[in-house]
Amino acid sequence: MTILLAGAAGYIGSHTAIALAQAGYDVAIVDDFSNSSPEAVRRCEELAGVKMPLYQADAADRAAMEDIFAQVRPAAVIHFAGFKAVGESVAKPLKYYRNNLDTTLTLLECMAKAGTKAFIFSSSATVYGARAAVPYTEQSETGGCTNPYGWTKLMIEQIAADTAKADPDMSVVLLRYFNPVGAHPSGRIGENPSGVPNNLMPYITQVAVGRLPQLNVFGDDYPTPDGTGVRDYIHVCDLAEGHVKALEYALEHKGTEVFNLGTGHGVSVLELVHAFERASGVKIPYRIAPRRAGDLAEVYADPAKAERVLGWKATRTVEDMCADSWRWQSNNPNGY
Ligand code: NAD
Ligand code: WQD
Repeated sequence: MTILLAGAAGYIGSHTAIALAQAGYDVAIVDDFSNSSPEAVRRCEELAGVKMPLYQADAADRAAMEDIFAQVRPAAVIHFAGFKAVGESVAKPLKYYRNNLDTTLTLLECMAKAGTKAFIFSSSATVYGARAAVPYTEQSETGGCTNPYGWTKLMIEQIAADTAKADPDMSVVLLRYFNPVGAHPSGRIGENPSGVPNNLMPYITQVAVGRLPQLNVFGDDYPTPDGTGVRDYIHVCDLAEGHVKALEYALEHKGTEVFNLGTGHGVSVLELVHAFERASGVKIPYRIAPRRAGDLAEVYADPAKAERVLGWKATRTVEDMCADSWRWQSNNPNGY
């Protein structure tokens, strides 16, 4: 059974491709490499010991995607393809609405034409915006997003749910990821941001490897135990395994379901910095900087639904996340 992964040359998709291959699925990948390298897929093949047909195409290109669907005949589609830089989405909203929505519409149209009934989407905890109280459950209020990126996720959730509502044979699983970090334990694949990283863990690892001089800690006056922002960091391999469970669920059910994929534990910026220092043996110089616009004090999941319905639970520790991020970055100081 072949699963088509859109955007799986990227960080989360590449780890998911390996988890799916290990679970016995055939994996085909489409990516335009706008934020990734084909080398990631080559290494996935090496790690999983199987071939993963790779198509270089824009997932929004209807003609190209129809051809790919005709060749692959996927039983399910997992949609990772999109832009994800929050700050850039504020500066270039149309770039984000165009790419994130168009890829979704094209994939869903191609699925309808090809008769593919299972769709899994990379959503985000960002859909809860500033309105809900932590821990977020899937019933927490969504909306109030502070940036266009977040709105694209919420809009796509609506588009996918409406599509499933109109087709009683269709299954949609919306996965709301919290803060993915870590890397495959081999150190062969990992997060490879272009330019200066926006996210905390790749920033820390680039300081550790000497590419950046010091970390800016955005605010130490939040109402949290040490004053720095608290997030629910989740190991990317736990996240990848969550996709395997979500796929099994989608292949057996109809309609739309939403799942939080997080650990349920909040970790502060300084706790993560110190955990990283212990795991790597490298000191991370930092300074306290002003708060970053749009940041919330605390974000963490109630992941109970995923455990109850999917039988999935994150098992890797913060130490695992730091050790694996460090192995990837130190073995590949300049990425792929
Ligand atoms: P990533 O940028 O590493 O991967 C996305 C991939 O999609 C890249 O390989 C990119 O080249 C590809 N892509 C983008 N537009 C495309 C297009 N039009 N056609 C074909 N390929 C295209 O990002 P990631 O961290 O792996 O995230 C994967 C998904 O998960 C994204 O949708 C992202 O918004 C979502 N997500 C990520 C996080 C996170 O913190 N990393 C958190 C929540 C949700
Ligand atoms: C984590 C914490 C920062 C960088 C983002 C998106 C979200 C989702 C995951 C896609 C915060 C602090 C960070 C730095 C710092 N992505 N920080 N110095 O903002 O929780 O979530 O990625 O869906 O939508 O918004 O993650 O890693 O940027 O920040 O002090 O250089 O680290 O203030 O408290 P965030 P992050």
